Amino acid sequence: MITKIQRVAPDSLREAKNFIEAGEVVAIPTETVYGLGGDAFNDEAVKKIFAVKGRPNDNPLIAHVHADYDLSKIIDYDPPYAKKLREAFLPGPLTLVYPSTGKVSPFVSCGLNTLAVRIPAHEGAQAFLREVDIPIVAPSANLSKHVSPTSAQHVYEDFQGKIPLILDGGVCVGGIESTVCDVTGEVPVILRPGLVTKEMIASVVGACEEYTPDFRSGEKVKSPGVLYKHYAPRCETTLFGANALADAVRVAKQATAEKRVAVLCESDLLGAFDGLNVAVLDLGKTGEEMANRLYGMLRTAETICDLLVAVEPREKGGVMTGVLNRLKKACVSVDIPHENV
Ligand code: TXA
Ligand code: MG
Repeated sequence: MITKIQRVAPDSLREAKNFIEAGEVVAIPTETVYGLGGDAFNDEAVKKIFAVKGRPNDNPLIAHVHADYDLSKIIDYDPPYAKKLREAFLPGPLTLVYPSTGKVSPFVSCGLNTLAVRIPAHEGAQAFLREVDIPIVAPSANLSKHVSPTSAQHVYEDFQGKIPLILDGGVCVGGIESTVCDVTGEVPVILRPGLVTKEMIASVVGACEEYTPDFRSGEKVKSPGVLYKHYAPRCETTLFGANALADAVRVAKQATAEKRVAVLCESDLLGAFDGLNVAVLDLGKTGEEMANRLYGMLRTAETICDLLVAVEPREKGGVMTGVLNRLKKACVSVDIPHENV
């Protein structure tokens, strides 16, 4: 199969719609990361998404809709506070998990009775979703466990020859995946941190909790995606706490021609590596900047080094929670054993 990359335009949108109606999957831009989209009502299309990504079949997908889509077609109950969150943050990088009507393919939510719904802000994504006018399920358009894609070229690297079309909407500005927030209970619960932060949600609806799975309790995990090693570059990685900078420098000094080292950290810590024979990946200064650069830099790391030495940002909370969450998942060296859940 030839994989075409086309800028978002009337012709390419029509072509994308034809592929979707034929049960194919098409890569689409969003403001967070690129997605691998398929018809949420079509079992075969949904199964194809899991197959082409190599995604575990217990990790549910997000349904993407345009800003005027009638949500009552797919969600069963819409608590008043969810409406407030939509008014405050959508279209934007916030996914809300509602009780499902069960109308979409049963493969979307992997047996859960909920449905994650996202209204992306990206103009190209909105244009595509209006063109098809159905919910499009779309996980990040990377091979399972690889770094999420923030450009059409990243998608091409993972899916060349495997999908017919990549709609190119430029480089993603957000850079990390949407905040996933459960709205099935009394108060919103963040299942995956992102650019819409706990503090922002609490400021609109008064309260917001954060879900941390207890792996030892035998509790059924709410958002299976949180279990997996994710976002990992194809090189050795070591993550140091911000207070272990001296250790990071010691490890970076081990660089040789055979073991090329790259260092990834916030701008203000880079001076610690001056004079060393290492490549430097500057994450930036603010949480937004770091979110925007992180995945591109992890993809660069795998092409320029054998060992990535990463240092956690010093600031915590806010957008940094999402950045740190991705950095930790990219740099853990073993999968959390699934049987323990
Ligand atoms: O920004 C994003 O959200 C991107 C772009 C393409 O929109 N999409 C994305 O999809 O990150 P994916 O499949 O890589 O991550 C979806 C996350 C997973 O952690 C999954 O477990 C969770 O959302 N999720 C999906 N449906 C859920 C549900 N019904 N209940 C709880 N968690 C759910
Ligand atoms: Mg993903």
